Amino acid sequence: MKVIVTGGAGFIGSAVIRQYIQNTKHEVVNLDALTYAGNLESLSMISEDPRYQFEHVDIRDIDQLRRVFEQHQPDAIMHLAAESHVDRSIDGPADFIQTNIVGTFNLLDVAKKYWDGLAGEKKDSFRFHHVSTDEVYGDLEATGFFTEETAYEPSSPYSASKASSDHLVRAWCRTYGFPVVITNCSNNYGPYQFPEKLIPLVTLNALEGKPLPIYGKGDQIRDWLYVDDHAKALRLVLETGKNGETYNIGGHNEKTNLEVVKTICAILDDLVPGAENTPYENLITYVKDRPGHDVRYAIDADKIAKDLGWLPEETFESGIKKTIQWYLDNAEWSQHVQDGSYMRERLGTGEE
Ligand SMILES: NC(=O)c1ccc[n+]([C@@H]2O[C@H](COP(=O)([O-])OP(=O)(O)OC[C@H]3O[C@@H](n4cnc5c(N)ncnc54)[C@H](O)[C@@H]3O)[C@@H](O)[C@H]2O)c1
Repeated sequence: MKVIVTGGAGFIGSAVIRQYIQNTKHEVVNLDALTYAGNLESLSMISEDPRYQFEHVDIRDIDQLRRVFEQHQPDAIMHLAAESHVDRSIDGPADFIQTNIVGTFNLLDVAKKYWDGLAGEKKDSFRFHHVSTDEVYGDLEATGFFTEETAYEPSSPYSASKASSDHLVRAWCRTYGFPVVITNCSNNYGPYQFPEKLIPLVTLNALEGKPLPIYGKGDQIRDWLYVDDHAKALRLVLETGKNGETYNIGGHNEKTNLEVVKTICAILDDLVPGAENTPYENLITYVKDRPGHDVRYAIDADKIAKDLGWLPEETFESGIKKTIQWYLDNAEWSQHVQDGSYMRERLGTGEE
């Protein structure tokens, strides 16, 4: 199988591509615009493999998308390219509309016309897999879970743009019979995550003796999934999911943000003792909450377990230790990806 993976230089896409090249015989075309969040260094261990190719293409550029489909004749597409950071979407929503909504439309348009021109087995087995988030469902009170039937109620410009893209993908299936699968996943963590997201941000700030920002009281609850478990679920859904279906993916690990930060601090106290600011918890600083901040996300991942046999392998306790150790061992990667303009400053307050 030859798969186009969009956003393959990002956090989750690079995990998917490493798995495809290292654990399967499939070929991969990585289609990525290399925004601040995309880094080819995350793929350096597989980039020389003849089954891997890179296309430096923006999904907003429909002519380039046509060229890529024509040239590579893919068997499937896994679409991860997106603007993905909620705080950035509050400060500058326009890029989220263009990439997440218009970009997804471009891909659907090009992929559907390409699929129209296929025949036989290649046409029957073609798949468009849209990778989305549990944030499209809005938030929950203290109890209950998001299922595949939960109504969409996105809160941020990011989640609203992802919700829009999900609707487009579903409409292409319903209206044109285009073969799609959609996945909605909870918060991911693990190696190669850009250090603007909670877990790498707190780890790196602690090591540098910088404040560890907690939004509001830190009582927002998220369900955390180790990135390699997500990547395995995505590969499974692409190959064995049923056309037209949505699958929720979650880690069964509900934690408050404060719990996550305190866990990181405790692990760092063990791994890097004796630094000036230890215990690292002393660096915790409470800051004004994010506007529209969702209170709780929790995923019911029974469908993918029952129908496709997927379960996460990593517990939060094992995954978080591995992740922190990875950031300690790969300081160079973190340095390189931050050589651009982002310096772990606070974004997304809604203030100019
Ligand atoms: N990170 C999470 O916790 C999480 C959870 C659930 C779902 N998701 C979804 O998974 C996908 C990947 O998330 P991630 O955390 O790896 O994101 P990321 O921000 O790390 O990577 C996004 C990638 O997309 C590329 N990209 C951005 N705009 C592009 C454009 N216009 N054209 C081509 N490429 C472009 C970037 O260069 C980058 O490589 C996203 O669709 C996101 O909504 C993420």
